[in-house]
Amino acid sequence: MAEKADFDKKNGLENIPEQEPQRQYCYIKLAAEYVKRLEEALGRKPLCAVTTFGCQMNARDSEKLAGILLQIGYQMTDSEEEADFVIYNTCTVRDNANQRVYGRLGVLNSLKKKKPHLKIALCGCMMQEESVVEKIKKSYRFVDLIFGTHNIYKFAELLVTVFENAESGYETADAKPAGHAHKHNMIIDIWQETNRIIEDLPVNRKYPYKSGINIMFGCNNFCSYCIVPYVRGRERSREPKEIIREIERLAADGVVEVMLLGQNVNSYGRNLEHPITFAQLLTEIEKIEGIKRIRFMTSHPKDLSDELIRVMKESKKICRHLHLPLQSGSDRILQAMNRRYTKAQYLQLVSKIKAAIPDIAITTDIIVGFPGETPEDVEETIDVIRKAGYDNAFTFIYSKRTGTPAAAMEDQVPEEIVRPSFDKLLKVVQDTAKERALLLKGQVMEALVEEVNEQDATLVTGRLSNNMLVHFPGDRSDIGKLMQVSLDECHGFYYTGHVRE
Ligand code: 5AD
Ligand code: SF4
Repeated sequence: MAEKADFDKKNGLENIPEQEPQRQYCYIKLAAEYVKRLEEALGRKPLCAVTTFGCQMNARDSEKLAGILLQIGYQMTDSEEEADFVIYNTCTVRDNANQRVYGRLGVLNSLKKKKPHLKIALCGCMMQEESVVEKIKKSYRFVDLIFGTHNIYKFAELLVTVFENAESGYETADAKPAGHAHKHNMIIDIWQETNRIIEDLPVNRKYPYKSGINIMFGCNNFCSYCIVPYVRGRERSREPKEIIREIERLAADGVVEVMLLGQNVNSYGRNLEHPITFAQLLTEIEKIEGIKRIRFMTSHPKDLSDELIRVMKESKKICRHLHLPLQSGSDRILQAMNRRYTKAQYLQLVSKIKAAIPDIAITTDIIVGFPGETPEDVEETIDVIRKAGYDNAFTFIYSKRTGTPAAAMEDQVPEEIVRPSFDKLLKVVQDTAKERALLLKGQVMEALVEEVNEQDATLVTGRLSNNMLVHFPGDRSDIGKLMQVSLDECHGFYYTGHVRE
């Protein structure tokens, strides 16, 4: 104990509060000391790169990581080569995301050999898998820090541990030959579950005018193919007053569009002490001055209420876009997937929504190649695509995830068998989406300008309420503005147009 007290005192750790987020703000100060010393040693501001894999939830988490890194004195860079700190926020929903991480880690290893003071951290969904952590411990020993999805709020504290570990390193690391700079310990902190939600930590938004907002974490649905409930834990909702407070602050800071994030927003609020529905939350958010647009994702079809359809219909702010994952159109496969709706129920829901809100765009997710799926099952899915008339669909080839019920099912379908069905389905998705897009030709719609076009700097890119993109003449000063744009030429998934005064 005495040793620990000495250590804490020496490192300014003796007065760290137990309470969050105050505790993390204390660690931010401590981490800043280390980064300051690094800056002195390098003779320039240290750089950090945050790389995000996967979904919008991860993108939001990365903004939180970036928020901490900036506060402790790093500067952001897009270049991992230049960076002094690299963090990968990983995804494991399909195996190809994992493979990409391993591939890029190989590159980071050679970078670290050239630059021993480079710190490498891994976090996110992939790290919640035991087999992944084992593999990294064995084959990627140069990694400095691993943490998961449940303790991201502790990032500053974990960084201090990493810096302490490297203690003697910074001043001399560059001068010493690679591998001898200092002893190397990998810091690993993975939690299996948490019901803690820590509010009020720093965030660095990627866009000044729009922002994601977590309204809930985790998932209770256990679709049989999906690893998310295992790596993101049980569903828990944030308190409505915390969500409203965050959005009010964002509005005051110039945000006009918010995207409410949850694995299944339609079950928002059920586990709160004072339960409220997602539709009621939307009604409260609608009242916030300065917010012009509200989006949300994802909606599970089994939980989409009539109340939500009514609130969307009556709203002036909720965007005309609904992401409603189908996954499959075959009743047999839907049941094996544990989706808890049938093809007929899904189509009926789509009809009801379109009848209430005729200008709504509906998009979806589809999996092809689930265990036991036959070409006839895929025909059922194609039938739904035609009948539902999707404005866009994300199509995935089934990926076997260890630990999920589907991974243990017989009749896994080899990818070469899945391919032709997948290609056929994709073609129908594209044709349907083009048909839908063409319907908008000549209309004038409101677009939120997001950025200057990368290919042609005389154009800006705006997003319509229905989530479609339109490119039109404009400049940097238009970013963040809502403009009336005429949709002149349809190019499949996007339009070109011009501003209507
Ligand atoms: N294989 C392929 N696609 C998957 N998805 C989730 N799990 C898997 C898997 N094991 C898809 C679903 C989900 C989207 C985010 O990812 O379509 O809606
Ligand atoms: Fe995965 Fe299903 Fe939960 Fe979506 S609803 S995260 S597909 S388990």
